[in-house]
Amino acid sequence: MFDEQESAQSAFTPREIVSELDRYIIGQDEAKRAVAIALRNRWRRQRVPEDLRDEIAPKNIIMIGPTGVGKTEIARRLARLAQAPFLKVEASKYTEVGYVGRDVESMVRDLVEISFRLVREEETQRVRIKAQELAEERLLDLLLPPGRSFEDRAEAQAGSLSTTLDGEHEDEPASAQRTREKFRQMLREAKLDERRVELDLTDRGGFFPMMQVFSTSGVEEMNMNLQDMLGNLFPKRTKRRRVSVPEALELLTAEEAQKLIDNERVTREALHRAEQSGIIIIDEIDKVAGREAGKGPDVSREGVQRDLLPIVEGSTVATKYGMVNTQHILFIASGAFSVAKPSDLIPELQGRFPIRVELGSLGRDDFVRILTEPRNSLIKQYVALMATEGIELVFEDAALQRVADIAAEVNSRTENIGARRLHTVMEKLLEDLSFRAPELGSQRVVIDEAEVVRALADIVEDLDLSRYIL
Ligand SMILES: Nc1ncnc2c1ncn2[C@@H]1O[C@H](COP(=O)(O)OP(=O)(O)OP(=O)(O)O)[C@@H](O)[C@H]1O
Ligand SMILES: [Mg+2]
Repeated sequence: MFDEQESAQSAFTPREIVSELDRYIIGQDEAKRAVAIALRNRWRRQRVPEDLRDEIAPKNIIMIGPTGVGKTEIARRLARLAQAPFLKVEASKYTEVGYVGRDVESMVRDLVEISFRLVREEETQRVRIKAQELAEERLLDLLLPPGRSFEDRAEAQAGSLSTTLDGEHEDEPASAQRTREKFRQMLREAKLDERRVELDLTDRGGFFPMMQVFSTSGVEEMNMNLQDMLGNLFPKRTKRRRVSVPEALELLTAEEAQKLIDNERVTREALHRAEQSGIIIIDEIDKVAGREAGKGPDVSREGVQRDLLPIVEGSTVATKYGMVNTQHILFIASGAFSVAKPSDLIPELQGRFPIRVELGSLGRDDFVRILTEPRNSLIKQYVALMATEGIELVFEDAALQRVADIAAEVNSRTENIGARRLHTVMEKLLEDLSFRAPELGSQRVVIDEAEVVRALADIVEDLDLSRYIL
């Protein structure tokens, strides 16, 4: 059933991973290389003979760098590539066990949940064709005039045995079958799409919003089984709905797929994947650094670090799907460490992140590239947004150079917030256009250097102003 599982794991080479990251993140080569190697090592480990495999622990990584230089962005893009259960969390979200808030172990539970969904999705894909066939049959039952479907016929026969041998009824199965095939044909040619049918759908959705409230209020363990318990406790509500034929086909396919999937196997595989190839990114790790017993929100910082230790080291965590050993989960921590230093983390934790990579701060030339090169670059975003108003927005090269200049200058004179400065500068530059766009009608708007100077020069000159506005 899961023959493909190992090869389904990211088979990208480090070079491919880096070049994929290059499409979104400018520079920061060292960090890209480190995460690419770590990801590839997961794949390698799966291919090592079993007795040695268990000995190979992942080399956890800490990414260190000032704010706004791409740490989170690298983690995010890596997530898309990993093809493995992948979770990104903020360390600052957690509190020490015993305090109100989320305990650190919940990140493992979340990872398993993600793993479960991932595997179930794969399974759904696998049984899709079969489920579609079954759904089609059920839909035909619904569409065919009463008395024409096999079920009805069977009932009728059971009711009065005497009629079964009547000559008149003998060729009816054949004709019913023909009608059915005709309908099938029409269904497949989308000729029945206008019709509507009534469906009975199981509906337990109503309970889940309530569950969410539980899970964020710190009653984690309780929540684990509550969901299932309540799910079984309350009767399944079925709701009758009138839907179009295509929609019905979709809903029935989903329902049939559910029936075809072996949940126990999915659960086992989900646990296996989370343990063997799971990746957890812990962002803002510096926010829990600091060893001195501080006051206020600081109290549980060191506690959070201590709680992290066993998880990073390898321990067993109870989840609603079963026990999970965290020994082979890869952890990538990242943080700006502007106030706290990596050495402010408790030593045991430092030791468990053997690979450190630094991300450099970004300069003017990086900004020019960041504005234009990434797949999702700011410029592309603004052009697309304005296009919805019928405006063809064009940036001259000199204008972009100037924007980069300004961003770099404001960063150096006030606070260095990295590439995020580009967002504030661009927003200010295009504020007027953004406001007036709907009134302008279809036209081409060119932003040249003069426009950049006009819109921003005054603010940049005035240090106080730029503190507030940019
Ligand atoms: N090197 C880069 N290339 C392309 N875009 C970047 C780069 N660095 C930052 N950005 C952009 O700047 C914004 C902020 O980046 P990101 O969230 O990665 O910062 P960070 O390093 O995690 O900062 P913080 O320490 O404040 O969390 C994002 O929109 C991102 O796309
Ligand atoms: Mg970040």
